[in-house]
Amino acid sequence: MTTTPHQDAPAREGGEPGRPREVVLSLSGIHKRFGAVQALTDVRLEVAAGEVVALVGDNGAGKSTLVKVIAGVYQPDSGDIELSGRKVKVGGPRQAQDLGIATVFQDLALCDNLDVVANLFLGQERVKGGAIDEVAMEVEAWRLLRSLSAKIPSVRIPIAALSGGQRQTVAIARSLVGKPQVVMLDEPTAALGVAQTAEVLNLVERLRENGLGVILISHNMADVQAVADRIVVLRLGRNEAEFHTDEVTTTDLVAAITGASDNVVASRAARGKEQAHD
Ligand SMILES: Nc1ncnc2c1ncn2[C@@H]1O[C@H](COP(=O)(O)OP(=O)(O)OP(=O)(O)O)[C@@H](O)[C@H]1O
Ligand SMILES: [Mg+2]
Repeated sequence: MTTTPHQDAPAREGGEPGRPREVVLSLSGIHKRFGAVQALTDVRLEVAAGEVVALVGDNGAGKSTLVKVIAGVYQPDSGDIELSGRKVKVGGPRQAQDLGIATVFQDLALCDNLDVVANLFLGQERVKGGAIDEVAMEVEAWRLLRSLSAKIPSVRIPIAALSGGQRQTVAIARSLVGKPQVVMLDEPTAALGVAQTAEVLNLVERLRENGLGVILISHNMADVQAVADRIVVLRLGRNEAEFHTDEVTTTDLVAAITGASDNVVASRAARGKEQAHD
């Protein structure tokens, strides 16, 4: 993985149509049941290197369950997971990390009283001659934060002193310590204001530029449309629809998420079209 930021990286709007990209993560036929609840039914998902795929859907659609299956938190009842074309079993979170799958869960799980460096390397400290190598970790911390163009004033201040957006930044940087191929972000902007949301969306762009496959879960359609290349809609635990971001309207997206026929917004839009034809 290269971490050198692109010079004058092309805007996504320019697009790179047809440019073949390596599929880093591929899921097919994923089923997961919790007792009487069939949470996932025959779900498929693909993410390429340098691609941001948004995973959207209503509450209970199965997004978090799918992420947890990929992250090794849950074992699927059946289905295949491939990394760079190789079939894998993600036995647990630790194994997911070793395979190059990183997850930033919604609660971030940072230690408020520890500084940025300590949080980045918690449980994966750099050691030299039997002692913790603070210098190496600090150098690596700055390198990681620079690769994200992150705005963190110091790596030696406690997490408690950082803003929500800066904490999200640290959590994302921490997910990169193990040099993953795939990063999953669960609702990274849910608790953030306008400026901080923009900052985190910029971060997602940096992850893409660095060649990672990114899976972004969000309920915010504006965020999704701003940053995703592709949008996968889950509904009632199944693949409902899939769109290229530049080819879908918010109305279509909402219709897919809610089920077009029983949706007020969608039927209002449909009525509008009919009237336009009259
Ligand atoms: N550990 C569990 N035990 C039992 N049922 C579960 C468990 N986890 C999820 N479910 C059920 O599986 C279904 C999918 O839930 P999931 O959390 O994946 O949805 P989601 O799309 O993440 O929703 P939200 O947007 O509310 O976070 C729901 O019906 C949920 O109640
Ligand atoms: Mg969820």
